[in-house]
Amino acid sequence: MILPLTQLSSFGDTMNAVVIGASGGIGSSMTSHLASMENVRRIVALSRTPIEETGKISSHHIDLQNAESIDAAAQFAKTALQDIHLVIVASGLLHDQAMQPEKAMRQINGDNFARAMAVNAIGPALVIKHFTPLMPRTGKTVLAVVSARVGSISDNYLGGWYAYRASKAAVNQIIRTGSIEIARKNCDAVLVALHPGTTDTNLSKPFQGGVAQERLFSPTYSAECLLRVIERITASMSGKLISWDGSVLPY
Ligand SMILES: NC(=O)c1ccc[n+]([C@@H]2O[C@H](COP(=O)([O-])OP(=O)(O)OC[C@H]3O[C@@H](n4cnc5c(N)ncnc54)[C@H](OP(=O)(O)O)[C@@H]3O)[C@@H](O)[C@H]2O)c1
Repeated sequence: MILPLTQLSSFGDTMNAVVIGASGGIGSSMTSHLASMENVRRIVALSRTPIEETGKISSHHIDLQNAESIDAAAQFAKTALQDIHLVIVASGLLHDQAMQPEKAMRQINGDNFARAMAVNAIGPALVIKHFTPLMPRTGKTVLAVVSARVGSISDNYLGGWYAYRASKAAVNQIIRTGSIEIARKNCDAVLVALHPGTTDTNLSKPFQGGVAQERLFSPTYSAECLLRVIERITASMSGKLISWDGSVLPY
């Protein structure tokens, strides 16, 4: 039996964390796991939907489609936490009332495509811009963006989902590019894209039909797996797309 992760020891005796998309299935589970960890001092939970502030958790508004709100959220986190050792971007957009992933190219819609790019790629790029300067220049720091395996270009054998795939491929490239720059400032800093596995959340709900029960993770299991990856990760893995089980996926 695998014991639950009680702390993120690789960050030292005390650490602060930020979770973006803290209202989502994976984001809320990551926030709860972090709150239960002994060496996590404070967490800033960011979301469009208000989050209840309890114990270690402070919350603030963020809209990844609004650059000013990302800057304001970073200023809030700086005041609340001073040093930020871990930033997790667990937000994402696949579908909503106005938008469904494309099954065929005739369904490509420019406005929906732009929205997927804004939430899944440009928003995380602005998060990297505003939050990495708030992270220490020495010691392990991690900025992890929850991406998706379907963003892998070489692994695409199914087709479809043009906007979502393209936006995740874009964020993977942003991570790769940022990892090269950030290593010049802190050789222990990690910038990484994570694949959570198919997880039972609102995002995947309409597409769970063909997924075997044992391959459909609960948000709490998925969050625990991703935190184990974050605990084990070192700077040599920076810039990569890493799956829930710790394996490196091809771009
Ligand atoms: N579930 C899966 O099977 C699966 C598989 C592969 C990858 N992923 C990735 O995992 C990540 C988390 O997804 P999930 O499954 O937990 O989905 P979810 O439950 O639908 O959560 C999505 C989160 O994104 C936030 N969000 C959406 N638009 C936003 C915006 N404009 N500004 C700020 N936040 C925004 C939502 O918060 P508000 O609406 O409150 O803002 C919510 O917290 C996503 O990046 C997704 O692509 C999921």
